[in-house]
Amino acid sequence: MFLCYEGITRHRSGSKESGISCRGKIEAEALASRRRRHTALPTCQTSFPAGQLEQGHSDCENQRSDHSSVSFQPLGLQEFLIRMASGRFYLTCMVLGSLGSMCILFITYWMQYWRGGFAWDGSVHMFNWHPVLMISGMVVLYGAASLVYRLPASWVGPKLPWKVLHATLHLLAFTLTVVGLVAVFQFHNHSKISHLYSLHSWLGITTVVFFACQWSLGFAIFLLPWASQWLRSLLKPVHVFFGACILSLSITSAISGINEKLFFVLKNATKPYSSLPSEAVFANSTGILVVAFGLLVLYILLASPWKRPDPGTLTDRQPLLHDRE
Ligand code: HEM
Repeated sequence: MFLCYEGITRHRSGSKESGISCRGKIEAEALASRRRRHTALPTCQTSFPAGQLEQGHSDCENQRSDHSSVSFQPLGLQEFLIRMASGRFYLTCMVLGSLGSMCILFITYWMQYWRGGFAWDGSVHMFNWHPVLMISGMVVLYGAASLVYRLPASWVGPKLPWKVLHATLHLLAFTLTVVGLVAVFQFHNHSKISHLYSLHSWLGITTVVFFACQWSLGFAIFLLPWASQWLRSLLKPVHVFFGACILSLSITSAISGINEKLFFVLKNATKPYSSLPSEAVFANSTGILVVAFGLLVLYILLASPWKRPDPGTLTDRQPLLHDRE
């Protein structure tokens, strides 16, 4: 359920001046009216299912003008419902942010405390950058970048800034990924270990290639101005589906990498993996955190009600080079 949301007035009229919501205007008017007449105020029925925001806004405006001659009631319940819906979203974001930060902290601590820390010299300490950068880039930043359109602030007003943010965050994620790959490839070169032999490396390299294709296609179709509205609408679900597939593959790659590393380093250790030393407990927990983070991102992306109202809206098609806003 969405209401006349903050900024919708600006979205419809194209004017930049309005920061006040339809709801806010009605409330202000209602309050003034109550002050004038000391009567009860009628409610504007401003609850709408996703996708009917515009209709809702005009209904809301109609009600506003219709009610100019009748008495008003406060919007207490609806105000409460909007706040609750956004409140739940931001609460989920806080959980997601905590999980993401813990993933990065845990993998960094594992590499620093048990694996000797970081360097950029081809040694095993250079390898240690690989897990940290892959989890930061391909899991945490990728996940966050995927959720840009789920932020309530992005549901109204021009879509272009959000598209640019989405593309930029993904580009940043891709950059971290490439540096993470350089770390492991150089380590293999330096130690004369052959490349791309393990299941982990096959999964990983496939994921990175898919990511590169997804970003390039997304940029060409959704940001550059040549693609028609029809083509964009056709490709949008495919883009979302592949985005979710890439995140799932990233999680699988990260888990298989953690597992492989544990087998390597605890093979000849005094306390082997099967005796569950503290390093294994810690690294297993890191894997669980990565899975929890990934599943929460996938839930918000695919199954949650937090979505920008769908097409037909004026701002759905805003090519980068034709932006008039
Ligand atoms: C999305 C995340 C990840 C991707 C895409 C990825 C990708 C790759 C690739 C392509 C290689 C092959 C490098 C070569 O052949 O020279 C590799 C190697 C390796 N990665 Fe990852 N990795 C990821 C996460 C991790 C994590 C979290 C760990 C945990 C420690 C890890 C551990 C390893 C290890 C031990 C190797 C060397 C052995 C091998 O080639 O399989 N990786 N990774």
